[in-house]
Amino acid sequence: MTDGPRMRRIYVHPLPIRIWHWLNAFGFVTLILTGVQIRYLDVINVVSFKTAVAVHNAVGWVLIGNFFVWLCFYLFTDKIRVYHPELSPLKHFRDTFRQARFYGYGIFKGEPNPHHVSVYHKFNALQSMTYQVIMQLLVPLQLVTGALLWDLHRFAAAVDFFGGVRVVATVHVLLFIFFTAFIFAHPYLASLGHTPGAHFKAMITGYEEVEEGESASGAAGAPRR
Ligand code: HEM
Repeated sequence: MTDGPRMRRIYVHPLPIRIWHWLNAFGFVTLILTGVQIRYLDVINVVSFKTAVAVHNAVGWVLIGNFFVWLCFYLFTDKIRVYHPELSPLKHFRDTFRQARFYGYGIFKGEPNPHHVSVYHKFNALQSMTYQVIMQLLVPLQLVTGALLWDLHRFAAAVDFFGGVRVVATVHVLLFIFFTAFIFAHPYLASLGHTPGAHFKAMITGYEEVEEGESASGAAGAPRR
């Protein structure tokens, strides 16, 4: 019997990020389910419209507060570097392309992952870009449009400013469709670690397992993300 590669553990997900993440994940799933019930009342009838709206509103406000946990953590710690490990846009672009090629082709050929995890380099270029767009643009937009729709009267001036109820509601629903797809794609990509559960375990314990001797620019056989 041969021994597998020697692994060491590195701390990549600090506690506030893990709490934010799982509250956010369960919150998004709840918002999607109650959102479906609110929008398609004539097709689905699991809970009453009133209950669906009450739960949707309450969870929405919890996630607005929770968003600031994520924001403040990255604003006030040096961990913001995980989102900007490279200063050269050209290198970032090349790494993004390499990573996309790996997910679309190399992974099926058994090629090693081009990205290697380290404390300040926990994301590959594709993750870094995607997470930034999601957390700095799409999630805030979803939370703001949700808050405006929550009380159209109170926020009438802001709703008008953004082009009226139809525009605000359309943006909210388009983002809902995006996040519904994301809820499937994101855990799939997260299951491509050195074992299917490796990244899920890391988001619970904080520790990612990497091969002994591996570095950010390092060797083959790394966690496959
Ligand atoms: C069923 C729901 C979800 C599951 C199972 C899940 C799973 C995971 C796992 C395993 C990671 C760590 C590996 C990685 O960095 O990719 C992660 C990270 C992350 N996820 Fe999720 N996720 C879920 C929902 C969400 C949602 C709804 C969002 C945003 C709207 C989200 C945003 C993120 C972000 C931004 C990170 C990086 C966090 C950081 O370290 O700063 N996730 N997720």
